[in-house]
Amino acid sequence: MSAKSAGEATLQYDGKSISLPVVEGTEGERGIDVSRLRSDTGLITLDPGYGNTGSCESAVTFIDGEKGILRYRGYPIEELAEKSTFLEVAYLLIRGELPSKAEFAEFDNEVTLHTMLHEDFKKFFSAMPKSAHPMPVTAAAVAALATFYPEPDTEEMLQRAVVRLIAKYSTLAAFAYKHSLGQPFMYPRNSLDYASNFLHMMFAVPCEEYQVDPVIARALDLLLILHADHEQNCSTSTVRMVGSSRAPLFASISAGISALWGSLHGGANQRVIEMLEQIQAEDGSADRFLERAKDKNDTTRLMGFGHRVYKSYDPRAAILKKACADVVDRTGANGDIGQLLEIAMRLEEVTLRDDYFVERRLYPNVDFYSGVIYKAMGIPVNMFTVMFAMGRLPGWIAQWIEMRRDPAFRIGRPRQIYVGETERHL
Ligand code: SDX
Repeated sequence: MSAKSAGEATLQYDGKSISLPVVEGTEGERGIDVSRLRSDTGLITLDPGYGNTGSCESAVTFIDGEKGILRYRGYPIEELAEKSTFLEVAYLLIRGELPSKAEFAEFDNEVTLHTMLHEDFKKFFSAMPKSAHPMPVTAAAVAALATFYPEPDTEEMLQRAVVRLIAKYSTLAAFAYKHSLGQPFMYPRNSLDYASNFLHMMFAVPCEEYQVDPVIARALDLLLILHADHEQNCSTSTVRMVGSSRAPLFASISAGISALWGSLHGGANQRVIEMLEQIQAEDGSADRFLERAKDKNDTTRLMGFGHRVYKSYDPRAAILKKACADVVDRTGANGDIGQLLEIAMRLEEVTLRDDYFVERRLYPNVDFYSGVIYKAMGIPVNMFTVMFAMGRLPGWIAQWIEMRRDPAFRIGRPRQIYVGETERHL
C-alpha cells in the first residue's frame, strides 16, 4: 500500500511558482511531497523538531491525536489490550497480520527457545558498576548482541535476529537488575509465558520457589502491548535513522534505547513517580505543585502530561488508569502506592478543568499511570524505562524492517540553514 495522489500545492516565491504533489494516506492524512523542492527551487524546508514533517509512509501504526485513536496494523489498541497477548501483538506489528494458532505456537516456541544468553555474557554484566542505571546497561548489552551473532544478510537470519532480540532483551533486563542487587542471575524458565518468565527472572531467588501472580503477569503483558509502537516518535525515528545507514538491527535498536532514555520521552515514567513522591513528601498538595508547573519562571513540568501528537486523552493512559487501580488493589499496595495513585488522580482531576492545561491541550500520556503500576509490581523506579523499551521492541523492529524494505529507501540526511560566520581568514 502506498499514498495516493491528492492533487497539487502551488508554492509562489521570488516571482516564481512551482507545483508540488500532494499525497493522501489511507486515513485521509495529506502531505506535500517536497522531495523535488531543492532541485527545482534551491529552497529547503525548515522544521525544528519535525512537528510538521513526515519522514516516511508507514503501514505499521496509525494515530489520530485529535480523536485519541491508536491502531496497530488497523486494530484499535482497546481491542488488542483486551483480547491479545504481547507476543501476538509483536507478531502482528512485525509480520503485518495476527498469527493463526499454529503460527503463534511456532513464534512463541521460537522466542522461548532463545531467551538464554551466551554464558560469556555474564562477564559483560560483571564489568558494570552495580550502581549503573540499567538503561545504558541494556543499550550496551543489545549492541553487544551483535558480537555474538552475525549480521543478518538473509530473510531467515533477520527473522532469527528478531526472535533473539525479543527473547533475550527480557533476560538482559532482568540480569541487569539482578547484577545491581548482587543477586545470582535467574535463568529463563521455558514453562512460563513471556511476562511470567520476566517476573520470575526479576524476583525469584535460587533458594526457594517463586510463584508468579497471574494477575500481575497479565497486567505486565498489557503494559507491554500498550507500549509496543507509536509511529514516528523520537526513539523510532532514531532506529530508522541509524538503520538507514545500513547499520545492523541490534545497533539500530541500541540507539533507540538510548533515545528513549530521555526525560521528555520514555524517561518520563521514572520522573512521574519521582514527581508523585516529591508531592507526597512535601505536603501532598497536587494543587500547589500544579502552580509551579504552570509558572513560566519555574522549569517544573507536569511529567506524564502533554504530547506532541495527542491533543486529547492518550488512549493508552485511559486503559492504564483502569489497570492501575486493579494492580494496586491486588498487590495490597494500598498504603504508600495507594497514596501516589490518589495524588495522580487528583493531578488529573485538577488539570482537566485548569485553563493552562486545557488551552495547551495537555492530557495524561502513556507515562502518567504506568509508573504507579510498575511500582505496585515491585519493579524499581530506575527500571521503568527499561520496561518501556521491552514493550517498544516490536514496534522499533517493525519500523526498521519497513524502512529497509521500502523501495524508495535511502540514507537519512537532513539539510540545514547555516547561520554561522561567513568566510573569514586566519
Ligand atoms: C512519550 O512521540 C511519542 O509518541 C512519544 C510517546 C511514545 O509512545 O513513543 O508517546 C512516549 O514520550 C510520551 C511523552 C512523555 N514525556 C513527558 O511526559 C514529559 C512532559 N511532557 C512534555 O515535556 C511535553 O508535553 C512533550 C515533550 C511530551 C511534548 O512537547 P511539545 O509537543 O514539544 O510541546 P511543547 O514543549 O512545545 O509544549 C507546548 C506548551 C508549552 O507552553 P507554552 O510555551 O506554549 O506556554 O505546553 C507546555 C509548554 O511549556 N507544556 C507543559 C507540559 N508539556 C507542555 N507545561 C507543563 N507540564 C507539561 N508536561
